[in-house]
Amino acid sequence: MNRAALDGSAARPYRPARASRATHPAAVGPLALTAGRWTYFATCAPGVEPILHDEVRALGLATVERQVGGVRFDGTMRDAWRANLWLRTAVRVLRREARFEAASEGALDRGIGEIDWSRFVASDGTLWIDAQTRESSLDHSRYLAQRIKDVIVDQVRAGDGTRPDVDRESAAVRVHLHLFRDRATLSVDTSGASLHRRGWRTAQGRAPLAETLAAAIVLRSGWNRRAPLVDPFCGTGTVLVEGGLIAANLAPGLTRERFGFERWRGHDAAGWAAAREEARAAARIPKKLRLVGSDVVPARLEEARAHLEAVGLGHLARLEVADAREFAPRPGWNATVLSNLPYGERVGDDVEALHGAFGERLRALDGYSVALLTGSSRLAGLLRLSRAERHRILNGGIECQLVTARIGGE
Ligand SMILES: C[S@@+](CC[C@H](N)C(=O)[O-])C[C@H]1O[C@@H](n2cnc3c(N)ncnc32)[C@H](O)[C@@H]1O
Repeated sequence: MNRAALDGSAARPYRPARASRATHPAAVGPLALTAGRWTYFATCAPGVEPILHDEVRALGLATVERQVGGVRFDGTMRDAWRANLWLRTAVRVLRREARFEAASEGALDRGIGEIDWSRFVASDGTLWIDAQTRESSLDHSRYLAQRIKDVIVDQVRAGDGTRPDVDRESAAVRVHLHLFRDRATLSVDTSGASLHRRGWRTAQGRAPLAETLAAAIVLRSGWNRRAPLVDPFCGTGTVLVEGGLIAANLAPGLTRERFGFERWRGHDAAGWAAAREEARAAARIPKKLRLVGSDVVPARLEEARAHLEAVGLGHLARLEVADAREFAPRPGWNATVLSNLPYGERVGDDVEALHGAFGERLRALDGYSVALLTGSSRLAGLLRLSRAERHRILNGGIECQLVTARIGGE
C-alpha cells in the first residue's frame, strides 16, 4: 500500500477542537462520555484490513493493531469522532466496554450487569443487540442477544420504572457481543448505521458499490489525486465521488446526517460540533482535477451527476454515454482508471466477453494506472494485464479480485 495515497491532512497531528472540555458541561458531569481513554475496533470488509490499517495510522491514532475483520486502536471519545468522520474504508467503529469470561449464562449476565447502561440508554430510548459466538459454550447468538437485552432493560427500568424498547432499524444504542472461546467482548457502536451510508446517495442504480469499497479501490490504487480519474463503468458514480472526496480532503462523514454516539445520553454536542467544523475547514477542492465517467445506461449518468453535485464536486465531472468495449481515452493523458466491472447482473450479460474486450483496450494504453474490482479471479484473469497485482476483497459475500497494474510507459 502506498502511504502517500492516504489522506494527507488527516495524517497531521491532531489539534484539539477550539472549545475546551471545560466549556462543555455535559463533558464533565457524571454522565460524561467524552472523558477517558478507550479501546476501539473499526470494522471493515474482509480483505480491506491493510488499507484501513494505513488509514487509522495516518489519522495519528495510538496502539494501532490490524486484526481479522478490522483494526484496533486506543483513544479518547474525540478520537472516535475523528475516526467516524475520516475513516473511508471502515464500516463501523465499536467502543469496547468490557471483556470477561462467559462460559455460562450467569457469568454473561454478571459481566453485562456490571456496566452502567444508564450512561447510554435513556429509559424511554431504543436499543438493539448484535451477538456473534464462535467456539464457545454459549453458542446460540440470537438467544444471547435476547439475554443481553433483558439484562440491560432490567437495569435501566430499575431507575424510573419505564423500559427502553427494542428497535432493529434505528435503535439509539447498538450493543455488540463478540464471544470467542468463552471470552466475551462487549462493545457499543459509536457509528450507528453503517458508515458506507455517507448521506449523499439518492439513487441505487443496478448494483451500486459500497462507498467504503469504492474508497478502498481508490486508496489501494496509489492514485496521486491529480491525474484524471476515469471510471468507464461508472454506474451511479460511487468511485468518482469517493475519489473526489479523497482528492479534496473532504471527510466522508461530513455529509452524514447522524452518528450513533449523537444519540447517547451524555453526548457532548458542542465538542462534536467543533470537531465537525475542524474537518470542514480541512477541505481543499482541487481546481484542475478531472473526474471522468461513462456508462452504457444514460439514467446512471444522471444519477452519477446528482451524486457528484451533492458532495460539491459536480463542476469537476465529465460524464458521457459510452461503451467500455470501445474505451479509447486520450494518449499521453496518464490517467488512472478505477472501476468496478459488471458481475453479470442481467440475464444474458456476457461479462466474460466484456472483460476480454475491455482488457484488450486497456493493454493498448500507455502510461495509465488501473485498479479494477472484478467479480471473481476468473474474470480478473480475462483482462490479461501483465505485471498486475491481485488483492482479494469480499464484497457482500462475493469473492472479488481487485486488479492493480501500471500499463506501459515504464
Ligand atoms: C457493477 S456496476 C458499477 C456500479 C458503480 N460502481 C456504482 O457504484 O454505481 C457496472 C456498470 O457497468 C455498466 N455497463 C455494463 N456494460 C457496460 C459497457 N459495455 N460499457 C460501459 N458500461 C457498462 C452498467 O450499466 C453498470 O452501471
